[in-house]
Amino acid sequence: MLFLLMLALSFSIPSVCSNTYKVVCYHGNWAAYRSGDGKFSISNIDPYLCTHIVYAFVGLNSNFTINILDPWQGVDLAGFTNFNNLRTKNSKLKTLIAIGGWNEGSERYSAMVSSASNRKTFIQSAINFIQKYDFNGFDLDWEYPSQRGGGSADIANFVSLLREMRTEFNIYGYLLSAAVAAPASSVDTSYNVPALSTYLDFINVMTYDLHGPWDSVTGQNAPLYPASSDVTAFQKSLNVDACISGWIERGASPSKIVMGVATYGRSYTLQNSGNTNIGAPTTGGGAAGKYSGESGYLGYNEICEYVNAGWTVVWDDQQKVPYAYKGNQWIGYDNPKSIAIKVAYAKARGLGGVMVWSLETDDFNGKCGSVNPILNQIKTSFN
Ligand SMILES: *[C@@H]1O[C@H](CO)[C@@H](O)[C@H](O)[C@H]1NC(C)=O
Repeated sequence: MLFLLMLALSFSIPSVCSNTYKVVCYHGNWAAYRSGDGKFSISNIDPYLCTHIVYAFVGLNSNFTINILDPWQGVDLAGFTNFNNLRTKNSKLKTLIAIGGWNEGSERYSAMVSSASNRKTFIQSAINFIQKYDFNGFDLDWEYPSQRGGGSADIANFVSLLREMRTEFNIYGYLLSAAVAAPASSVDTSYNVPALSTYLDFINVMTYDLHGPWDSVTGQNAPLYPASSDVTAFQKSLNVDACISGWIERGASPSKIVMGVATYGRSYTLQNSGNTNIGAPTTGGGAAGKYSGESGYLGYNEICEYVNAGWTVVWDDQQKVPYAYKGNQWIGYDNPKSIAIKVAYAKARGLGGVMVWSLETDDFNGKCGSVNPILNQIKTSFN
């Protein structure tokens, strides 16, 4: 009888737990310095759209302690505290602090993991930081082990760091995650995948920036599938599906994989405004957006305004993402339709959920329609 009851209970688990997918949302605190409708503060975060929110970024001091990169926002204006206080609205919400990011480079992280005593200093500093500001966990965004000035020993040393962090974090019940490179060539250079899957609570795979203005031709930022024009093995590796398969084939547990989706696109200036196809020659990045101010990059909140103002939108059915153009300006991006397809894909592959880079470029002011269309689509698609 008890056995039958337990059997019944175990069979009921999938339906009971149908809402256990993770939606891990990054917040780049520098968006507080944007102007007008682009300015994004902690108070703009809807605490019900994500299961985990991640504050980006802190850095690493040369003595391997945590470096608060922006003490004005984080401490003086109480950004860390306000971020963590979002849990008073949604008690299920988890908060993490992310260290690293592209601008931090790789060399200091390589030095930190290279000795047991450096790692110990770092781990103690991380724990002190988490305790002081009351986060739930820590997210490692080292871009990337054994790349950009790191050495080949980084792969093994990173595993040592993760093993030691896991041991210490278990004492406190802290979450430990990492944001990792997506394409197979980069994964093979940087990671011992089975070890990452063992020691991390979840793995944020950065399945975006797969094409961008650093290429000399137009391409999709985060295509789900390859284009017919992708012929070489390398070209065929630069899509979300290939990246996720690569992580699983190398030994990542699918349930630990949190698949990156982008609330932004990569923009280009066309060489010839008569050729707007995928693979069209470009002269460089597209014009900077009025909020984000960076050539080659536009937030969805900027893209949707262009679309509403009459840019031509094309649905790329091979890659399952849209692109848009006007004159010599071209952008490959994600919209609620492509996001819905990606969430369905993440579910079909048994992944842990999706990660969103980043909160401050969804249409959080509802300038183009309803508020936070990308984040709301994710929530709807997981329900
Ligand atoms: C590490 O370096 C930082 C920044 O220079 C400094 O504020 C801190 O006191 C140092 N910590 C130790 C333990 O030396």
